[in-house]
Amino acid sequence: MKVYVPRDAAARALGADAVADAFAKAGVRVIRNGSRGMVWLEPLVEIEEGGARRAYGSVTPADVAGILSGEVQSLGPVEDIPFFARQTRLTFARCGLIDPLDLAEYEAHGGLAGLRRALELGSEGILAEVKDSGLRGRGGAGFPTGIKWETVARAQADRKYIVCNADEGDSGTFADRMLMEGDPFSLIEGMVIAGIAVGATKGFVYIRSEYPDAIEVMYRVVEISRKNKILGHVLHSEHEFDIEIRVGAGAYVCGEETSLLNSLEGKRGVVRAKPPLPALEGFMGRPTVVNNVISLGTIPVILEKGAAHYAGFGLGRSKGTMPIQIAGNVARGGLFETAFGMPLGALVNEIAGGTATGRPVKAVQVGGPLGAYFAPEKFDTPFAYEEFDGQGGLIGHAGVVVFDESADMRAMARFAMEFCAVESCGKCTPCRIGAVRGVETIDRIAAGDASAVPLLVDLCETMKHGSLCALGGFTPYPVMSALTQFPEEFAGHREAAE
Ligand code: NAI
Ligand code: SF4
Repeated sequence: MKVYVPRDAAARALGADAVADAFAKAGVRVIRNGSRGMVWLEPLVEIEEGGARRAYGSVTPADVAGILSGEVQSLGPVEDIPFFARQTRLTFARCGLIDPLDLAEYEAHGGLAGLRRALELGSEGILAEVKDSGLRGRGGAGFPTGIKWETVARAQADRKYIVCNADEGDSGTFADRMLMEGDPFSLIEGMVIAGIAVGATKGFVYIRSEYPDAIEVMYRVVEISRKNKILGHVLHSEHEFDIEIRVGAGAYVCGEETSLLNSLEGKRGVVRAKPPLPALEGFMGRPTVVNNVISLGTIPVILEKGAAHYAGFGLGRSKGTMPIQIAGNVARGGLFETAFGMPLGALVNEIAGGTATGRPVKAVQVGGPLGAYFAPEKFDTPFAYEEFDGQGGLIGHAGVVVFDESADMRAMARFAMEFCAVESCGKCTPCRIGAVRGVETIDRIAAGDASAVPLLVDLCETMKHGSLCALGGFTPYPVMSALTQFPEEFAGHREAAE
């Protein structure tokens, strides 16, 4: 008998370490796996016996004896739990299934097959596969990954770099963290394949300091990968690649790629003007691929199963699957990987089970603190890049945060402006000054000054079109979506204030 107890940070926060200790004391072999993504059931423990695994949810140390004696009711196999059964897991196929630090298990579950095929295909063949797969940047902007790689591959330079953006700062998002903690070799493998494709020999993983567990895992897998020739002379081929882990210092704006590159170079995390694109002049002025954890972590499965397989999922130009992170006021929160195209309402009501409070859903913010609010009237919007754009929103890094009817939308709009003011790097005026004025203007509206409403709209237009990066440029999304869908909440309260 073996027992799987997640070492994922969310499971640990809910007491997984004490549960693992209790099983170990009972004499059972404990394996610390990643999370299966059903956060409301964490710590989710699985007992493996006779080749079959059965799950137990929200386990405490007091449950251990009962689980071992058969008195505690099992949830059955994880694969049969509806939240899990409705998923299409490509990027997260191994997450929670294996011990994240066990390279042999990684290989036994399809790991390194993509890298082996990539070595056979060579640069041009890999570029063709990634382009044909239709993979777009999962960090939020959705730029075609194959075209970005091709730009770097075609650039002439003495050195090129692969930079993995693991500065996952969006509120309500945790997919990068879950993959690094649950299937970190997939990220290493994806980065090595990127290196072969573009001719880079060095990579960096830039992880936010708020992710100590992910940082520790990534340090350990880099060491294991070096010892096993995944890094160094890649699988004993003529290709060389090494990875360095770097830890951020807590600035949200360092998730913006040029700011991240400045930070990586030891400079202050201030945004650089584009052009030049990082693909041509990135880290130390050299051509650099900057990709999110999920983009890179999806590369191995694309190479393993082929571009056509991956592109066979999705909707329109949104190909493949997206690990959607469901959070906020929901009955069932967690990571739900599915092909693009599922309506937002199905995600919120069927998959997440509506609100945890049982009150009606008022709005859903999609795409982090810079994402628009969607009222239930827009719940038939399919979860895909162009479809969300058409509704004045963005899917961003696919964080979905649900609010019930008690949410104060004017306060949410004020928070967006305040967040921007606090996190602004200060480089451009529309964001640096605009966000501060935005907070003041919403306060004027709250005090009953109706003439401040058109001023807020004007300010949002200026920030949207005049800001240098997405922080200032996208802050108007939550503000304007709150204002247009809930205008009565911006009607002012002069009487109350006077
Ligand atoms: P962007 O549209 O400027 O660029 C997207 C990517 O494509 C960049 O890597 C850029 O260098 C590259 N690119 C553009 N044209 C290219 C070309 N011709 N050749 C090669 N590469 C090219 O968007 P940006 O500012 O990098 O990202 C904005 C997004 O970031 C937003 O959509 C937002 O959702 C997301 N975001 C994500 C966060 C997270 O925690 N994951 C936090 C905050 C924002
Ligand atoms: Fe800096 Fe804000 Fe301008 Fe971005 S929009 S460059 S964060 S000041």
